[in-house]
Amino acid sequence: MFSPIFSFVLNFTFAQLNQKIMRIDIITVLPEILESPLNFSIVKRARDKGLAEIIVHNLRDYSDDKHRRVDDYSFSKGAGMVMAIQPIEKAIEKLKSERNYDEIIYTTPDGKVFDQKTANILSMYNNIIILCGHYKGIDQRIRDHYITLEISIGDYVLTGGELAAAVITDSVVRILPGVLSDETSALTDSFQDNLLSPPVYTRPAVYKGMKVPDVLLSGNDKLIDDWKHNQSIERTKKLRPDLFRKYLREE
Ligand code: ADE
Repeated sequence: MFSPIFSFVLNFTFAQLNQKIMRIDIITVLPEILESPLNFSIVKRARDKGLAEIIVHNLRDYSDDKHRRVDDYSFSKGAGMVMAIQPIEKAIEKLKSERNYDEIIYTTPDGKVFDQKTANILSMYNNIIILCGHYKGIDQRIRDHYITLEISIGDYVLTGGELAAAVITDSVVRILPGVLSDETSALTDSFQDNLLSPPVYTRPAVYKGMKVPDVLLSGNDKLIDDWKHNQSIERTKKLRPDLFRKYLREE
């Protein structure tokens, strides 16, 4: 069995030879929230280059209710509104009838906390669905019968799952092979090896008395690489001792 990071590097290398398109279907009651994060910068470039296909579905379009309602009262008294089973089941069934999905994700604060390793794994898939949670959550039967992965983007509560879906999509799409112009940069990101990135500097070499470290001006690639690695280690030790312990374990 390959380690997750090794599988990711292998996949990344092969996928460059055999450019794949990843499809992400996002089901939401508020498609407008996703417009901006998915239509600018690197995600836009990936879509324009045909490397990622991202389709946002308005859950209301799948509601059989004449007022296009997607929520209803909870059977547990006083628990607030719950996303109803019917429109979600219809949306997921329609998508599943058109292609196979590698994962059907539900964004929720009680899911598995998202990290770079999960982003790497998702980036190796062809088709995923992300269902954005809202209100007091979705009918449990959807979780039991359709959802294959529940993801939280951190231990805090958002108004809805759309921002979480945007975070997941952004982090996955940016590492798809061919998306970043410098192909190696996805592999040298912070977190890929459980280390934070080293500090970076640009011109001028001296600004109002503040100097760039001499080593970066030395022109010696080996010295610069060693310096960068040491800086990553020192920064991680100081800023993220939890991550540093992981680095030592997996080194
Ligand atoms: N919905 C509300 N809060 C969330 C969180 N922290 N992560 C994912 N989805 C959420």
